[in-house]
Amino acid sequence: MLARVNSSAVVGLDAVPVEVEVDIANQGLPSFAIVGLPDKAVEEAKERVRSAIKNTGAEFPAKRITVNLAPADLPKEGPSYDFPIAVGILIASGQLKTDIQDALFMGELSLDGRLRHTNGVLPQAILAKEKRLKRIFLPSVDSTEAAILRGIKIYPVPNLIALMHHFTGAKIIIKPQRYINFTDYFKEELFDFDLRDIKGQEKAKRAVEIAAAGSHNILLKGPPGAGKTLLARTLPSILPKLILSEALDVTKIYSISGLLNKESLVVKRPFRSPHHTASHIGLIGGGTSPKPGEISLAHRGVLFLDEFPEFPRHVLEALRQPMEDGMITISRSSGRINFPAKFMLIAAQNPCPCGHLGDNRRECKCSASELTRYQKRISGPILDRIDIHLDVPAVKVEKLTTEDKKIKIEPSDTVRKRVQKARDIQTKRFENKKITANSEMTNKDIKEFCTLSEECTSLLHLAVSKMNLSARSYQRTIKLARTIADLQESKVIKSNHIAEALQYRPRTENL
Ligand SMILES: Nc1ncnc2c1ncn2[C@@H]1O[C@H](COP(=O)(O)OP(=O)(O)OP(=O)(O)O)[C@@H](O)[C@H]1O
Ligand SMILES: [Mg+2]
Repeated sequence: MLARVNSSAVVGLDAVPVEVEVDIANQGLPSFAIVGLPDKAVEEAKERVRSAIKNTGAEFPAKRITVNLAPADLPKEGPSYDFPIAVGILIASGQLKTDIQDALFMGELSLDGRLRHTNGVLPQAILAKEKRLKRIFLPSVDSTEAAILRGIKIYPVPNLIALMHHFTGAKIIIKPQRYINFTDYFKEELFDFDLRDIKGQEKAKRAVEIAAAGSHNILLKGPPGAGKTLLARTLPSILPKLILSEALDVTKIYSISGLLNKESLVVKRPFRSPHHTASHIGLIGGGTSPKPGEISLAHRGVLFLDEFPEFPRHVLEALRQPMEDGMITISRSSGRINFPAKFMLIAAQNPCPCGHLGDNRRECKCSASELTRYQKRISGPILDRIDIHLDVPAVKVEKLTTEDKKIKIEPSDTVRKRVQKARDIQTKRFENKKITANSEMTNKDIKEFCTLSEECTSLLHLAVSKMNLSARSYQRTIKLARTIADLQESKVIKSNHIAEALQYRPRTENL
């Protein structure tokens, strides 16, 4: 007898349908074969399924069993086909009598028949909904992840016995509670670092605020101990909330990477800070079965690269394309996969190997050749993609030690409110577009949303010729000015907004 079970495979960030066909032939010697480009983990499903069925108390047919995973030309990876294969065998052998055309199955089996966690539940659940299936049967531990979707019934299955009881009517599986409101997720949070704890550095704080408001890339340069790392680490406390469409994308990435903890929806903007010894694949993504790298895990959030020049040059150069396109394309013989990578880059570095170039408290001891070698580690094209270049000087000792009650240091909470307001303006502005922040504007969007007065245009023209700005820098300055205007809740971009944005461009000798 032949049984068909709906299942799916995750390719890149999305799922595609996979039909699990199970045929049990009465003739021929007992055997168990899986065809349809299975990888090692799928091949091993045979042993898990056999033991799981036996340990459930059902019978594993001693017949010729053929499992086909269709379409045959799509490589199948991972253990998530265990459950659909087992269900197929139970149906094809007549031990389970039910119609499952409208259901999707996914999950790994343990030898005793329990269902284990599976990666990529959310994209597969989204696929099931798109294909107008009505039910999803999945491991209990993953049920909350799928439960954020409406319009499809989720059945959390603890083990094969529970599934058999469900279909015979002996004990129906209870559907999990749905989360009623997306905003319920946003609770008041506590952060490890707060702007309140950073003394002085007003200019740097302002720059970080602008960067957070418009998701602009920022480079902090300064002597050791100036507070660059500290500033970057306070960023999560001032980032605006994710909107639902962003949260779903981020959750999908974490879901296929197996990094969703107990939460069913990622609601906090990610903050990723890979070490400079991270590999190319770890940072950019890839591998034989391509997985998202740090740049995709930082999608809609922050990628913090501390000690920027210490990253291998080829790794930094690989950031060029994703920084421009907001996604990374990984080509393999089996096809091309796109992972989104719209991240805000925050990079920190010393100005020179000894760290004291331009520091008026200590002399720089680096030779000219050391300096050139150090500065060459980061290419011009990368620097050109960074909107805000900021010198972070060492904070004066009086500021560090004296507690001046009259000087009120703004806490992150207050700054976050301003950032959120500016981001709300942007969300509304880009309502009918695919983008969510000013930094993502294309040239066409700039034309539409950034009308410049004559005064602004002439100021920009002057700057382009005096500061040797590239065409890209020119566009980036306008985007930055748009964010500065949004922070002030100003509908039009004024010349002081342009002037402030220009301050953050690097001096040409640094390029
Ligand atoms: N403005 C500041 N206010 C309060 N504490 C500060 C400030 N700047 C630095 N510190 C203190 O100094 C420590 C070191 O700062 P941080 O690690 O941010 O320096 P850095 O600029 O990243 O240096 P490096 O170039 O060596 O990486 C911080 O943990 C913090 O305790
Ligand atoms: Mg540091």
